[in-house]
Amino acid sequence: MTSAEIRKRFISFFEKRGHAVLPSASLVPENDPSVLFNTAGMQPLVPYLLGEKHPLGTRLVNFQKCVRTGDIDDIGDNTHATFFEMMGNWSLGDYFKEDAIKWSYELLTSKDEGFGLDPHRLYVTVFEGNEDAPRDDEAAAIWKKYLPENRIYYRPADKNWWSAGDNGPCGPDTEMFYDVTGTLGDMTLEEYLKADDEQKVVEIWNDVFMEYLKKDGKVVGKLANKNVDTGSGFERITMVLQGKDNIFDTDLFLPIINKIKEFTSVDTTTKESIRAMRIIADHLRATTFLIGDGVLPGNKDQGYILRRLLRRAVRYADTLNMKHGSLFWIADTIVTEYKDAYPMLITQKEHIKSEIDKEEQKFRSTLAKGMKEFERMATSSISGDDAFLLLSSYGFPIDLTKELAKERGLTVDEKGFEEAFKKHQDLSRSGSEQKFKGGLSGTGEMETRYHTATHLLNAALREVLGNHISQKGSNITAERMRFDFSHGAKMTDEEKKKVEVLVNQKIDEAHPVTFKEMPKEEAERIGAIHAFGDKYGDIVKVYSIGNETDGYFSREFCGGPHVANTKELGHFKIVKEEAVSQSVRRIKAVLE
Ligand code: ALA
Repeated sequence: MTSAEIRKRFISFFEKRGHAVLPSASLVPENDPSVLFNTAGMQPLVPYLLGEKHPLGTRLVNFQKCVRTGDIDDIGDNTHATFFEMMGNWSLGDYFKEDAIKWSYELLTSKDEGFGLDPHRLYVTVFEGNEDAPRDDEAAAIWKKYLPENRIYYRPADKNWWSAGDNGPCGPDTEMFYDVTGTLGDMTLEEYLKADDEQKVVEIWNDVFMEYLKKDGKVVGKLANKNVDTGSGFERITMVLQGKDNIFDTDLFLPIINKIKEFTSVDTTTKESIRAMRIIADHLRATTFLIGDGVLPGNKDQGYILRRLLRRAVRYADTLNMKHGSLFWIADTIVTEYKDAYPMLITQKEHIKSEIDKEEQKFRSTLAKGMKEFERMATSSISGDDAFLLLSSYGFPIDLTKELAKERGLTVDEKGFEEAFKKHQDLSRSGSEQKFKGGLSGTGEMETRYHTATHLLNAALREVLGNHISQKGSNITAERMRFDFSHGAKMTDEEKKKVEVLVNQKIDEAHPVTFKEMPKEEAERIGAIHAFGDKYGDIVKVYSIGNETDGYFSREFCGGPHVANTKELGHFKIVKEEAVSQSVRRIKAVLE
């Protein structure tokens, strides 16, 4: 059965039973800052599980895009994926255990309407009970209508109680397992546990009976409604239905793996190559969907996870000798494969490809140097400061450093890294306060770029709006710059455009950025601008953009650091222009 057919059957089975089809929510939760991504189908539905009325009714069916990065080290084995789709049917205070179990069984085993799995290869677990809720004899009794009693196992809360975290709706569940070897027959509990350990049975579905509420990790009572939340991993069920022993051999991954093979020049049958191809396929699939949902590579939160996945893919691409700049073609294939289920990917295709390409280029600009640096360090275990240097100067996410170290049998001082990281944060925090007074902020790769962009913006504003512009403050993070300046009126769209164009022109013209230390009087004589006159010493550092012969575009008192050439900045974009006070305006801008 093709994955497209599985998709269709799941939806129409429940549609026929009165369920409204719900499109997948974004990977990025809309109203829940406590998690970076949706990691289960129920997450976007929490308010409705808690009692809010859903506009589509009380029976829903969906495929929810999910990202889980907790098991990133396991990617490359048979069943793990960072991005996956979870199929689910939902009762919001409507049907409960009887129908949920009946339909799970019917869908799994019906040849006409469902997946046609062999009922003799099915096993189920139910909740054994604890102080929060009784043993689920009710679910077991329902299962007995379909399966022999000796294939129903009672299991404890760590296996058969489901919640998304310490707070929210939760409840006992019943999980369905399938014998992928076709040889197991009846098993005692002990035999079943062993088969589970050996992955001879795989979990294919989970029905959660959500009628309890958790607060701060404790079950505190019952919900207003008895709900059903079911979850079945689409990739897993496809694997089982296509008779494969790993998800990468299913039709969900094969076209992606084949595309990767087109770009490699190594033997793709070795264990290492297979693992690398799986990692690239998995990470690019996650990347494609993340960018499609509006995430961009960055240094924190979702952006950091995306960056980490992409950079990891770049490194594995290197182990396969893949052509530089080929990764975005993998995304092209992914969009083609998923466009029917997710039409929005078509409109996003060029954007997704270009972001992947940009990030690959960006990482490659420091990767080789970073690897050299790593080799130099790798004579013994990697210190926290070294790991931090690899991150701040060469863009190596800590996981990458850890992975490289592990390959050489070395360890990384993670605690030391955290400390170095924190020290840097504290420095940049106090630094950005200082910067507001004209000093420095963080000195990471991006911050440095933003420093130089700030000088370009300052000069461009003077050129477009006039020489009355003077800097009133500045604040830089790795994600954006903010610049406050004296000006009595709101900038028009045309003025903003002009400033943007001028800054980008100076970036494109690739001007050198140089500095010179000189006596303050001389700096003033050559017309170097400065934000806060009196706090500088007698000898000042003046940063210049441009050169003597063609003239300087900007000359400014500043402590640095700056990039060596404006071409390193990328594309400058004004995100917002607003008032700080009557005569001070603020521009927020980003480099893309
Ligand atoms: N919420 C349940 C799960 O993710 C169905 O397994």
